[in-house]
Amino acid sequence: MTAVGIDAMEIWTGKLKLDLAETFAAEKGEDPEKYTKGLGLFASSFPDAHEDIVTMGANAAHRLMERKGLTPADIGRIDVATESAFDNSKPVSTYIAGCLEQVYEEDFHHANKGERKFACIAGTQSLDDAYNWIRAGRNRGRSALVVATDTALYARGDPGEATQGAGAVAMLVTEDPDLVELSTEQGYGSADETDFLKPNQQFPSVDGKRSMQVYLARMREALEDFESVAGDTHPDDFAFIPYHTPFPGMVRKAGLLGYRHMIRCTEVEDELADEIGRQPREEEFDDREAYEEAIRGYMDDLKSTDQYREWYAEVVEPTLSISREVGNWYTGSVHIARAAALQYAAEEDRDVTGDRLLVGSYGSGAQAEIHAETIQEGWREEVDALNVDEQIRNRYDISFEEYEQVHDRHNHDKSIELAAFTEPDGEFVFAGRGAMDERTYDYVE
Ligand code: COA
Repeated sequence: MTAVGIDAMEIWTGKLKLDLAETFAAEKGEDPEKYTKGLGLFASSFPDAHEDIVTMGANAAHRLMERKGLTPADIGRIDVATESAFDNSKPVSTYIAGCLEQVYEEDFHHANKGERKFACIAGTQSLDDAYNWIRAGRNRGRSALVVATDTALYARGDPGEATQGAGAVAMLVTEDPDLVELSTEQGYGSADETDFLKPNQQFPSVDGKRSMQVYLARMREALEDFESVAGDTHPDDFAFIPYHTPFPGMVRKAGLLGYRHMIRCTEVEDELADEIGRQPREEEFDDREAYEEAIRGYMDDLKSTDQYREWYAEVVEPTLSISREVGNWYTGSVHIARAAALQYAAEEDRDVTGDRLLVGSYGSGAQAEIHAETIQEGWREEVDALNVDEQIRNRYDISFEEYEQVHDRHNHDKSIELAAFTEPDGEFVFAGRGAMDERTYDYVE
């Protein structure tokens, strides 16, 4: 069977940076370590005055098409995953296609376009849709363009304000991919939850603490479902485990939970037994509460073992390097975690061709998906082509006062004129509203 998966990706960060320790914590009068150590975040990316989900998505897609030498005729499908859409009818993919058509002679009139919504998991769902479309033989030799783009803004003063971010990830899904092969091995954990939602409003209603519990519960359910298809997992099975990363501190919790699950009934659990005992088994307890308390105690001990710490440093920590500089990109978050891991492998000069990734995606509301991917031979060239570190370094560092203006500028209920802080250069920009209140875009050479 021909491999199908992600052939290439490009990342576009919002061009502004809010330093959480220096600027945000200082203004709030809080200990900077709450952000850098507790949440694990150093900075957030924000869109400049001329940027939005369309420009960031179109700019990422344009870079991708240029680098891979593609024209619109090569693309049979454009799916945009977002939870920051500004239109309940016209999908963001049409705006992005419209932007790209300004710079290509051909058009996308024969490409199927859509928009995927399920909080932060929609980017992964769009990859699944693209995979299924190609596997079904409906692609006519063409590739799918998947764009995950979000401006993750919270209401001012919301606890989520520290985890904001903005950026886009464009991914090309093809046969014989250069980056990773997707597999049919998937597991889901899905339930009707009200942890985070935007009932026709721009900024989310969030029960932050509950959303963390729901993330972990659904992720565990998805792992069990994955194992029912793929067989038991073991910590040594995967080179990296990129998780959805609303903030790195969340992944710290997910990593520990995953490790505990994976070592159950393995030689690792046996080896650790002298030091911290064996994992509590539910049947050994009279009630659920007592069992859960015992599990929490075991996890506390597990966290400090050398085995766990070494595994986490090698398999999970490398996935967080981009996230801690840019914040939450919602639909793009798990995909920048994959990119960060592969960048780390390249920096370490490791040959990871043929190694596997376990990818843990999550969307509030709520659903988790766990799936496996296999790293392909062309990964190194693809990763070396990314310029995300340069983009991160080049962001304009905003003051708190500028942050307040930027937040207002992107607030749909406000109409604020604001001069851009950065000079557009070879990119799409927001150019104002048209006669039907549609958003319009220009390409600036
Ligand atoms: N030094 C070191 N760590 C510190 C600290 C300090 N001075 N102050 C706080 N911390 C730690 C806390 O102990 C906590 O870590 P822990 O959970 O491991 O104990 C972490 O920093 C966060 O602090 P907390 O007081 O819980 O933050 P908060 O109440 O402001 O909100 C969220 C945290 C995640 C609830 C909030 O950011 C939010 O609502 N985010 C949006 C929703 C979200 O992303 N959910 C995730 C699932 S999708």
